[in-house]
Amino acid sequence: VELQSLAIKIARSDNLPVLSQVASALLRLVDEPNSSAKLLAQSIEQDPAISAKLLRVANSAYYGHQNVSSISTAVQLLGMTSIRAMVVGIAYQQVSCGQTVSSSFSNLDFWEHSLAVAIASRLIAKSKLPEQMEELYLAGLIHDVGMLVLDRFLPHKFDLAIQTAFSRGITLHQAETEVLGYAHDEVGGLLAEKWSLSERLITMIRYHHSPTGAGDLTLHCQIIAAGDAIARLSGYPNNSPDGLIHAYIPALSALQLTAEEIEPIRADVIAEVKRAQEIFHIRAAA
Ligand SMILES: [Fe+2]
Ligand SMILES: [Fe+2]
Repeated sequence: VELQSLAIKIARSDNLPVLSQVASALLRLVDEPNSSAKLLAQSIEQDPAISAKLLRVANSAYYGHQNVSSISTAVQLLGMTSIRAMVVGIAYQQVSCGQTVSSSFSNLDFWEHSLAVAIASRLIAKSKLPEQMEELYLAGLIHDVGMLVLDRFLPHKFDLAIQTAFSRGITLHQAETEVLGYAHDEVGGLLAEKWSLSERLITMIRYHHSPTGAGDLTLHCQIIAAGDAIARLSGYPNNSPDGLIHAYIPALSALQLTAEEIEPIRADVIAEVKRAQEIFHIRAAA
């Protein structure tokens, strides 16, 4: 299936990895640095599932069992930054934790990796691009979204790509390229366009495996690529073989990250993913 015909399918389909209207509005809103707390709270309240989950998270042990009963109180108590991260996580989890079609594709693996890359990218941004930590969290979270399209529209080819990655010990990106002639980064760019995400996010998704193509956003893409490498080092390889570290060394050296810098990020990633699984009630399959 050529990329062009897949692009047409994505443009026409209603059967996409569905982002509820509210969730897609929220993704746009959190990407907008000047959005107000009030507007954000109002938008969250339009989606009962997201509201309920947010309140559960706000009342969880992690946030000290506060008695939060409204979204606007949650926004006040926890602050915009935490709310943004939570909302994005919840909205995205709704998309990525549905039933998969490809039998080899694990959405738990996908979710853990996405979250790990988000956390790692934000931490790397702290030293490399401090103004853009939140944007990089968001971009890190959704960078591999193209895989959801491959799972939905080309499940047999995607299965074959995953199996090829494991049998040959190559990255899933390489295996997709061999099987399909293109990979989830390009496909993710198309989906992000369909979702009307910002141009910046679309670019970051499209070039996370080839940062130098991203023009002004090269550093952003390098941070996501390095975040991806650290997610792998942390044990979240996303439906591909463990190890393969040699394939990810270039991403780490592009940012001149040293072992002393990487290690604490890795420890944080593991701790944060575990914590998120607890508060979002995600459990590893038995
Ligand atoms: Fe990727
Ligand atoms: Fe990735």
